[in-house]
Amino acid sequence: MYTLGIETSCDETAASVVCDGRTISSSVTASSLRLHSRYGGIIPEIASRAQLEYINAVVDCALKKAHIALGDVDLIAVTRGPGLIGSLLVGISFAKALSYARRIALIGVDHVQAHLYAAFLDGQSSVPVRFPFIGLVVSGGHTRLYYYKRFDTFRVLGDTLDDAAGEAFDKVAKLLGLGYPGGPAIERCATRGNPEAYRFSCGDPRRSEFSFSGIKTAVLYAVREIKKRNAISLQQKRDLAASFQASVVSCLVQKTINATVRKKARTLVVGGGVVANKSFRRELLQKSREFGINVLIPRFELCTDNASMVAGLGYQLHCLGKRDSLHFKPRLY
Ligand code: KG4
Ligand code: ZN
Repeated sequence: MYTLGIETSCDETAASVVCDGRTISSSVTASSLRLHSRYGGIIPEIASRAQLEYINAVVDCALKKAHIALGDVDLIAVTRGPGLIGSLLVGISFAKALSYARRIALIGVDHVQAHLYAAFLDGQSSVPVRFPFIGLVVSGGHTRLYYYKRFDTFRVLGDTLDDAAGEAFDKVAKLLGLGYPGGPAIERCATRGNPEAYRFSCGDPRRSEFSFSGIKTAVLYAVREIKKRNAISLQQKRDLAASFQASVVSCLVQKTINATVRKKARTLVVGGGVVANKSFRRELLQKSREFGINVLIPRFELCTDNASMVAGLGYQLHCLGKRDSLHFKPRLY
């Protein structure tokens, strides 16, 4: 069964064809990131205008690469939210029009939950899905811990009280003049830094909620302190980046392992842009091994926004009997 996934929640316009919910037949992404780079963040109006221009070609390309025609598509899964309203409307309207014109079943998918599904795709498509599992999504907009009993039955164990982890990476990168998106920039800069040069904290590791606004302010104060005396040196930037990254990674890993142990779950699934961070992947794998937890991590390209994760989760929900009518609305959070 072929599912066409469409994802337009932020700056990307993405489409993918996924076979039987696990195997990626094609995945195409057009990004408007270049158009936003000089503003240091995403400008919603620029993003949605670019998506309007790209979407037809992107969906066409995904079908061609999968060697199928629109008539072969059994289900259309589209990101329902959260995201930028203009961007979501482009994808949802496009999906609804296709569904209506070709009488193809339609389903709206939650973007944050879809990030977790990336771990079940492709190279890991033969791994059976075992419930219950603990899910951690760490992206630019969300840091959220879930307890999953089924793909449509779950509980949120902890959310971010302020900034998401990816947002903190982006803000700290801006503060250090490293550019956007901040995650990869901080990671590169941190490779030659000393993670123990500065003592930063992300709050009480025993709590399930996250908070990354305090550490962002702590980095700001450290930078101000340095600048009172001298211009900030390259090595100081590296040390700040490394210390910030080490603190965020250790907080994410500790809280997630704690939740998994507390809920007596044997499996841990992670997803979202920050999961592309090598230091996070390393520390999570190491700690999971220590606690005998089986951890599923998406491959690098599937950590950040893509349409395959939307198609895959859409398929699973469809198998559980979920459907959407043409009247479903975008969900902003
Ligand atoms: O999941 P995603 O593509 O989009 C959202 O749904 O938000 O995540 C984007 C976020 C950005 O904040 C970006 O800085 C962060 O993921 N990110 C990283 C890395 N690659 C992307 N953060 C840390 N290390 C990375 N290597
Ligand atoms: Zn995302």
